[in-house]
This record gives sequence, structure tokens and C-alpha cells, in this order.
Amino acid sequence: MDKYTIRNTLPTDYQRVISVMIDWWNGRDLRYMLSKIFFIHFCNTSFIVEAEDQLLAFLVGFMSQTDDNVGYIHFVGVHPEFRKKGIGRELYSQFFNKCKLNKRRIIKSCTSPVNKLSIAFHQRMGFLIETGDGVIDGMPVTLNYLGVNAPKVLFRLEI
Ligand SMILES: CC(C)(COP(=O)(O)OP(=O)(O)OC[C@H]1O[C@@H](n2cnc3c(N)ncnc32)[C@H](O)[C@@H]1OP(=O)(O)O)[C@@H](O)C(=O)NCCC(=O)NCCS
Repeated sequence: MDKYTIRNTLPTDYQRVISVMIDWWNGRDLRYMLSKIFFIHFCNTSFIVEAEDQLLAFLVGFMSQTDDNVGYIHFVGVHPEFRKKGIGRELYSQFFNKCKLNKRRIIKSCTSPVNKLSIAFHQRMGFLIETGDGVIDGMPVTLNYLGVNAPKVLFRLEI
């Protein structure tokens, strides 16, 4: 893998990230879930991976304000040409370190049941899937987690 750098996000990264999302999510448009506010008030717990100004990956996460033992990963994306090279794992490792510094021992995240890639990645990273209140494609889901008729697979990892 060529050299790349990891740094915290800046407000100026927002457009760059938003402009790749449809492509990186294989045609799904999830931009409405990633407001610019995350790039203003969650910079210390969010990361950009780049090589010579090319955006390779990003992670947007935060410390839960509701549960002081939880860090939440809201979005992670890696450029399709740079996947399966350990960048996603490295981003999670950076976020886990941040969580430990903030005395957070539980990491949570979620994904749509259609996102098999994300489910495989999280399972490989050691996350357990929460039981939820439904099953889709054999996968436990929480039916109305982020809205009505928007079932999610909920991930949980103790670090
Ligand atoms: C999910 C995603 C972030 C993974 O990034 P990545 O850089 O390819 O992941 P890594 O190379 O660090 O892989 C970490 C582990 O997950 C495994 N993994 C990654 N992609 C996988 C896949 N498609 N199927 C099975 N396992 C996978 C790797 O084999 C690796 O395991 P190992 O270290 O034990 O060998 C990337 O595929 C992506 O951006 N997908 C589109 C956006 C998305 O769905 N994001 C998640 C929901 S917000």
C-alpha cells in the first residue's frame, strides 16, 4: 500500500466527502444522513485518509452524549480502488483509541440490511449484531431504529 496520511476532519472536507458518497455506496444516496454539522462539531472524533490530496477514506464518529461509555461510528467509507488494504481497519483503530482516551469501552454502529459488505466488514472487525425486533435475509434487525420502515442491523463491540 502506498503511503497515506490520517488526520482529523475539517469543515472544508465536507464537500469532498459528500461528492464521493453515491459512488462509494454503489449508487445509494445516503448524503441526507451526513449533515455538514458533523464536519464542524465532531472533528476530533472523525478522520480523513488521503494521499497527495486524493481522498482515500473517511470516518465520521462521535462520543455518545446519552451513554458515557459509548462511541458511535456514523459513517465510514473507503475509495473502491483502495479497499481490502486495511484502511477501514486503521480508521476503526484510530477511533477506538479516541474512545479509550475518553473512557468509552463500547463501540456502536449500524447499517442497512442490504449493505452486505458493511455487515461482513463489521463482523470481521469483531462486532456482534444486536438481537433487535425483526429478521431480514436471516439477519437480526431493529425495525424502526432510525425512522419508520428503515430497518437497521445494529453493531456492538466492547474494546
Ligand atoms: C466497509 C469498508 C469501509 C471496509 O473498508 P476496507 O478498507 O476495505 O476494510 P479493511 O481492508 O480494513 O478490512 C478489514 C477487515 O474486514 C474484511 N473485509 C473488508 N471488506 C470485506 C468484504 N467485502 N467482505 C468480507 N470481509 C471484508 C477484511 O478482509 C479485513 O479482515 P482481516 O483484516 O481480518 O483480513 C469499505 O468496503 C467501504 O467503504 N464500503 C462502502 C461504504 C460502506 O458500506 N460503509 C459502511 C457503512 S457506513
